[in-house]
Amino acid sequence: MNAEPDFFRSICPPPGWPLDADRHGALAHENARLRESLARQATRLDETEHKLRHAQAELARANRLSLYGELVASIVHEVAQPVTALDSAARAGLRWLERDEPNVARAREALTHISACANRARTIIESLRARAREDAPGFAVFDLGASLREVADLATHTFGAMKVTLRLDPRVPPLPVRGERVLLQQAILNLLMNGAEAMQDRPEGQRELVLDWELAGDSLRIHVDDRGEGFDPALAERVFEPLFTTKPSGMGMGLAISRSIVQAHQGQLLLAPRPDGGTRATLTLPRTAA
Ligand SMILES: Nc1ncnc2c1ncn2[C@@H]1O[C@H](COP(=O)(O)OP(=O)(O)O)[C@@H](O)[C@H]1O
Ligand SMILES: [Mg+2]
Repeated sequence: MNAEPDFFRSICPPPGWPLDADRHGALAHENARLRESLARQATRLDETEHKLRHAQAELARANRLSLYGELVASIVHEVAQPVTALDSAARAGLRWLERDEPNVARAREALTHISACANRARTIIESLRARAREDAPGFAVFDLGASLREVADLATHTFGAMKVTLRLDPRVPPLPVRGERVLLQQAILNLLMNGAEAMQDRPEGQRELVLDWELAGDSLRIHVDDRGEGFDPALAERVFEPLFTTKPSGMGMGLAISRSIVQAHQGQLLLAPRPDGGTRATLTLPRTAA
């Protein structure tokens, strides 16, 4: 005889079922057990929420950091302009002073212009320095293997909602890499998101994403394989341009930012069609001794 049905009748008796002392006891016991289990679940929820908030804060920071490279390029560009202006104003000032009858008023104008240009360059450099103090990437040796697992965990909820299955071999070994962990995780997350988005027109159950790694000589390769719609091979380089998107509500920044992150790590990022359909994104990084 299976004891279970009796047990359930005792804790959840049908209407009109008399409750004797034993059943009262079982009910009280089961209530206590349920309360305890609810409390445990509430704690777990708190912990999960805390982790999620932490992950979101880290991602926001990663986004700021990846803008850093673009910012440096634009600041270099902006500083070059006042420096060129400084030079031509200095030459003009000298010419006014070297005349047989020096024109002091014009020379003063040139010096005033030089001072303004120097101030502008200093302001730009100071803002760069302030940002560098705040946000400079901190490179260190870390385990990319563990980071892949973290990324997969991070994406679980999003992929669940998109009916996408993410496969990652749980036996991923330690993969030491030198760099900024959160930035590389963001790049991988961008690739996973693109893969998941490319499969949204596939029937549920066929939306499989594979995150894999491969050691090749001095390099470490991370592959993101999807079974999505694929892309036009003629666009293989254009997809990395900032603001290039084929999605109605796309930003077109994911691959551009990811590639600049990977290049900052002396690595490469490529997209290739898979022979049996879908896309393979490959991120190559130099290997590091642990
Ligand atoms: N896995 C993929 N499969 C098919 N096309 C892709 C994939 N990844 C990227 N692409 C193409 O590259 C474009 C740029 O991607 P991305 O920079 O991440 O911006 P977004 O995702 O906002 O469009 C996408 O719009 C898409 O056309
Ligand atoms: Mg994208």
